[in-house]
Amino acid sequence: MSAWTLCVDFGTAYSKAAAAPRNAWSRFDPASVRPLMIGGVQETGNAFLLESAVFVDDDRILFGRAAMARAEEAGRKRMALRSFKTLLSVSDLDRALNTSAPASVDPHRIFQMRDLIVLYLAYLLSAVDAAAAYDPMVRDATSIERRYAAPAWRSGDSAGMHQSIVRLFGEAETLRHAVGDQILEPEGISIQAVSDLLPKAMAEPAPYEMGLIFEATAAAAYTSIGLPDSGAHLIVVDMGAGTTDIAALARSGARLSELPEARVTLKQAGDFIDSVIANIVLANSRWAKTQAQQTELWRAVQRHMRDIKEAVFEEGRATLRHEGKVISVQMRDIERDRDFKEFMKGLASAYQFGLEVLRDDVMARGRTEIQAIAVGGGAAAPFIRELIKKTKARGNTRVTARPATPDWAHAREFRGNLAPVFPQLAISIGGALAPEQMLAAQGGINPRADAQT
Ligand SMILES: Nc1ncnc2c1ncn2[C@@H]1O[C@H](COP(=O)(O)OP(=O)(O)OP(=O)(O)O)[C@@H](O)[C@H]1O
Ligand SMILES: [Mg+2]
Repeated sequence: MSAWTLCVDFGTAYSKAAAAPRNAWSRFDPASVRPLMIGGVQETGNAFLLESAVFVDDDRILFGRAAMARAEEAGRKRMALRSFKTLLSVSDLDRALNTSAPASVDPHRIFQMRDLIVLYLAYLLSAVDAAAAYDPMVRDATSIERRYAAPAWRSGDSAGMHQSIVRLFGEAETLRHAVGDQILEPEGISIQAVSDLLPKAMAEPAPYEMGLIFEATAAAAYTSIGLPDSGAHLIVVDMGAGTTDIAALARSGARLSELPEARVTLKQAGDFIDSVIANIVLANSRWAKTQAQQTELWRAVQRHMRDIKEAVFEEGRATLRHEGKVISVQMRDIERDRDFKEFMKGLASAYQFGLEVLRDDVMARGRTEIQAIAVGGGAAAPFIRELIKKTKARGNTRVTARPATPDWAHAREFRGNLAPVFPQLAISIGGALAPEQMLAAQGGINPRADAQT
């Protein structure tokens, strides 16, 4: 099998990518679904996750995990740029791209947001290529159709936004060929090289073709692929790092359409939980009196946050050792937090509302079944699991919670790496599996052809 589809999902915290044979939708075989080890270029961390981060240092630009590590050393006034995605979903994209990066991100004041995004995409494309070349099945592909997943645009002008984004990818493609493999090294690339090469890349983007798939559609595609009932209705809860998104979808044959009135985006997600936890730790650690002690403690908590959350979500509590002290955080403490309670209220009502909209559609079509699925890093949270298990029926409708991680993710070949991060990869996997009818936009840029006409 040689024609493949590859989908990238650049999340607020992590980018992910997966590939599947072009005909996977009609002939699904789990063995041919290939989550790509785009994080494999880094020495530590999960091989399937690549930190979405760019750090502008004194005279170099760092990417991914190296960018995050350097930002942590650099202190409070300096930051890595992480949330490209938020930028890509604003209604006036071009204006947002042309704003200067804040001084905390770029102390030299030479880069616009657009420059940093193109740099990151160049890094991401190189990491994806390296991972595809490493994969025993994908590396023999004769053709690869590319896609990216993005939140549903608020402006509604998918085609217009799509053109702008594909152009960024085209510029990134030119840039990464000019820069070469150095971009994947932990020391990144020099600002000098960027100043020389980036303007040329922007003036001459490579021809680039991509499809756009909305994140919720991709999650639903992955969920519904194994379902015998082609008329499934789905409710998707995606709690990532930056946002929690709820979407309702109805599938009919190979078509999957979103019921737009049900869509809700909440600003609280993984990053928000992180700050709730860090504040609890500080409040419970009265011994940390000086500013320096508190800063040190805050950093230690952030460094171990992923593990702390996993333990709190799984076991209800986590303990952390710091400077000879044992610090504990309990799920109960989080549940008592005022902002967290607000989040829970918002989440419950958004979910109920989505279900109501779906039920109307289910009944109108003479069906009975709704599938509920949680994706994203937050799928492991107890409050998300409980939410999707609520099966209050109305009329004949039934809600069935689907597992976030399918059995095949435990296959031995993945050496235990895939299952723990599967919910985070669900969107890139679904995006690679989905048939063309599910794309929100297609096509690309071909500057050379445009110049000829
Ligand atoms: N097992 C786990 N237990 C608790 N939290 C987890 C777990 N795995 C991942 N997370 C958290 O999930 C978040 C990352 O999830 P994900 O990769 O879905 O986000 P993203 O796609 O980058 O963000 P967004 O979709 O909001 O742009 C982080 O906050 C991370 O700490
Ligand atoms: Mg995400």
